[in-house]
Amino acid sequence: MSSGRITIFDTTLRDGEQSPGISLNALEKVEIAEQLARLGVDVIEAGFPISSPGDFEGVQKIAAEVSGVTVCALARAVEKDIRTAWDAIREAERPRIHTFISTSDVHLKYQLRKSRDEVLEAAKRMVSLAVSLCDDVEFSAMDATRSDPEFLAAVLAAAVAEGATTINIPDTVGYALPSEFGDFIRRQVEMVPGLKDVTVSVHCHNDLGLAVANSLAAVQAGAKQVECAVNGLGERAGNASLEEMVMILETRRSSLGLSTGINTVEIDRTSKLVSQLTGYEVQPNKAIVGKNAFAHESGIHQDGVLKERTTYEIMSASSIGRSRSDIVLGKHSGRHALKVAMEELGIELDGEELDQAFARFKKIADRKKQVTAVDLEHLVSEELRQQADLLELKSYEVTSSSEFIPTCQVIIEKEGERLLGKSFSGGSMESIFQAIDDAVGIQGKLKDYQVRAVTGGKDALGEVRVVVEVNGEDYAGTALSIDVVEASAKAYVRAVNNAYRAGGVK
Ligand code: KIV
Ligand code: ZN
Repeated sequence: MSSGRITIFDTTLRDGEQSPGISLNALEKVEIAEQLARLGVDVIEAGFPISSPGDFEGVQKIAAEVSGVTVCALARAVEKDIRTAWDAIREAERPRIHTFISTSDVHLKYQLRKSRDEVLEAAKRMVSLAVSLCDDVEFSAMDATRSDPEFLAAVLAAAVAEGATTINIPDTVGYALPSEFGDFIRRQVEMVPGLKDVTVSVHCHNDLGLAVANSLAAVQAGAKQVECAVNGLGERAGNASLEEMVMILETRRSSLGLSTGINTVEIDRTSKLVSQLTGYEVQPNKAIVGKNAFAHESGIHQDGVLKERTTYEIMSASSIGRSRSDIVLGKHSGRHALKVAMEELGIELDGEELDQAFARFKKIADRKKQVTAVDLEHLVSEELRQQADLLELKSYEVTSSSEFIPTCQVIIEKEGERLLGKSFSGGSMESIFQAIDDAVGIQGKLKDYQVRAVTGGKDALGEVRVVVEVNGEDYAGTALSIDVVEASAKAYVRAVNNAYRAGGVK
């Protein structure tokens, strides 16, 4: 049995953000990073700063604002990438540069067009450069599992000799089998004696649905860091799911003898926040965080659980923070009740923040009988995002009919100026989006539109997420309202706000 503390390296904001259709702005990235810090991850991989100015800004903001955690930036084994990564994270309390280069022959021949000697040389020089800038350097051998083990060992040994403090062995294309991957890690540790003095890490992709199983095999073989993402987000089929990995180690601790620093009661909230901001819904039967993960449908199971929970549950919903959704407020609840309810959710609100949240809560409570904890969490994060917006939807009117073409008028406020927009076109949503374009003077193209109910019941809060193309770039926006038309209009305005913020609209 292996023993010890496993480092949880979260890559939701880097590999996860590479999933198609996800485009988070810097504020949303900071919001997720703060929640990841509350969750207790050890390392946040905040992004790939050389990839775009938006990514650089997100990483820089996280480095400056999120404390109590290592903030890591990704860089190819290229001088410009490494210097840019360092510029983005230098303000962090605990910065880490993560540099990588491929080691498999197929990548060397077709992608890098480099010889093995050239790759070995680049790995040496670039790790040495990264070490000259930052005390904490991680080196990854991309496509390690399809690499010649001897060559891989030579590259890893060189990276250790140059001063890398973490060595990551990724299964980049999700090809490994658990028993094979465990043996692969053991063999590398035997072939590279220096690996005993650094942290051995793994980064598994889920192409065959084995990312978590492979990560588990690796920690049983002695790896000490697991790279994973919330809700299993990531390139293609995703990365190892953070919540599954953590709850395996937690639930089977007596057999595995391994632990993490994760505060598991924050898992559910983290999963919901990531799903809300990325627009990636969690499948209902997903392990740990799916809507049905703790639901019992059959009579026999319900009967068993009512008599004794452990008859059909190996972990409790409350262990991942799911039981808190019972708090219910209504239109007669006062500001103190709201403050206490928010505190129960771990959110401290005072002064102006409390005033704003209370005003928003009252508007919703006037239209919705019961405001639940889930509603409150959404409401507050929405409030915080809105404060940073340049454009605000002040009012709208849209006509909808079975016979006539819908018409719409909107008023948008921009830095105190009221912008009026109107349209006369296809469907009522199309009409409202065109009226917003008219007010702001852009031509947005709707690329994606999703609606979901935050809680149950006819008066549920509706959450709308849109992806809008403006001047050739995609921007996402999410908003909530009891009225789906209003939520749609606000989500569209938020996407346009994101376009302004990223410099996509002048
Ligand atoms: O999948 C992969 O190999 C990666 C590396 C950059 C670690 O994402
Ligand atoms: Zn990856």
